[in-house]
Amino acid sequence: MLKTQVLIIGAGASGLMCARTAAQQGRHVTILDHAKKAGEKIRISGGGRCNFTNRTVTADHFICDNPHFCKSALAQFTPDDFIHLVEQHGIAYHEREHQQLFCDYSAKDIVNMLVNECLEARVNLCLNHIIQTIEKDGQHGLFNIRTNQGTFQTESLVIATGGLSIPKMGATPFGFKVAQQFGITVRETRAGLVPFTLTGKEKTYFQPLSGIAIPVVVSCRGKSFQEAMLFTHRGLSGPAMLQISSYWQYGDTLSVDLLPDMEISTFLTQQKQQHPKIQLQTTLYKILPKRLCHVLMQTILANKTLSQLNPSQLDHIEQQLHHWQIKPSGTEGYRTAEVTLGGIDTQAISSKTMQAKKHQGLFFIGEVLDVTGHLGGFNFQWAWSSGYCAGLHA
Ligand code: FDA
Repeated sequence: MLKTQVLIIGAGASGLMCARTAAQQGRHVTILDHAKKAGEKIRISGGGRCNFTNRTVTADHFICDNPHFCKSALAQFTPDDFIHLVEQHGIAYHEREHQQLFCDYSAKDIVNMLVNECLEARVNLCLNHIIQTIEKDGQHGLFNIRTNQGTFQTESLVIATGGLSIPKMGATPFGFKVAQQFGITVRETRAGLVPFTLTGKEKTYFQPLSGIAIPVVVSCRGKSFQEAMLFTHRGLSGPAMLQISSYWQYGDTLSVDLLPDMEISTFLTQQKQQHPKIQLQTTLYKILPKRLCHVLMQTILANKTLSQLNPSQLDHIEQQLHHWQIKPSGTEGYRTAEVTLGGIDTQAISSKTMQAKKHQGLFFIGEVLDVTGHLGGFNFQWAWSSGYCAGLHA
């Protein structure tokens, strides 16, 4: 039996951060993961460049049943703390729109940084380990973890096994099962930051637009995001749709402003004065992609010459284009989702330490918890911050 002081299950973003932090406190740390490599999701993140944090991170960037839960951890380990670490390791990075920070070269730089930090602090990193059982020894308060490669005994057990997205990369409901084993509630989970699918008439109309991207404001359930929308062969994607997918519920209709910040009736009135005989469709080519105009004419607008349009019809066109209604049939699900909404109920967890309130020595960090960030580096920041806090206290 291998004895350790801190055993972390999951060598992903939060697990590696927790391991290096605990080991730097002088703790003997072991990480177990069933995967062949550590940090696989980091490697594929941000289109291979890893959007590792955001300059401004607040509780408003997270979805959680308890909106205050994430505040303490985010204050204990801030975006600046992570940027400092990245700079210490000489990793080149740049800022994109919405204050998102990305690696200049490769997301592997972040994986290597975290693994090197762990190895320098003498973390025992054990890959290819299948966890079979977890038991708590009531007498000594120690955890026994049986794996396909032997049994480990630890004082503190940290669950960092992430959410359900991308099962092909090793995502499992392991963390939720451990929570249930210890009587901790798991809030219903669903895919977040995920493309929408369309079926029926909508799919027939919009599939030919695959590849077209336009800036929009999308709204649903009182939330709005101003970003790009992308038509795909399955439905709708792009940052705007990924963001709103985390708020959308089955059956909801999305309202999309196809021309944000534009006074369409003013534009059309001017065009009408200058080119009264021109068709509405031809005029819209000036402000929207041609193929999209064709489909809008088939679905929500009637083609007329501009001279035929009276003020109330101009207002109607304005309404239709600022409030385009589209009802997705569903989402692409965990297969392509970036995150899992829901998860371990934060009521059961200390927001300062990530320790289960009723189970001394048992910690949960990262995406396995019911804390989900918006798109933009917030999910990694949550992994770093929650991992750091648990690392200090485990
Ligand atoms: P993570 O998923 O990182 O790690 C979990 C670890 O547990 C894995 O190593 C896994 O193998 C292991 N594990 C799971 N089950 C196990 C079991 N039964 N036994 C043993 N080990 C087990 N976020 C962001 O902020 N910026 C970005 O650019 C992106 N980009 C992005 C792209 C894509 C395609 C995806 C899918 C996700 C993102 N994300 C993101 C989200 C981000 O990757 C995610 O929120 C964090 O990786 C979560 O960190 P965790 O440590 O919680 O889990």
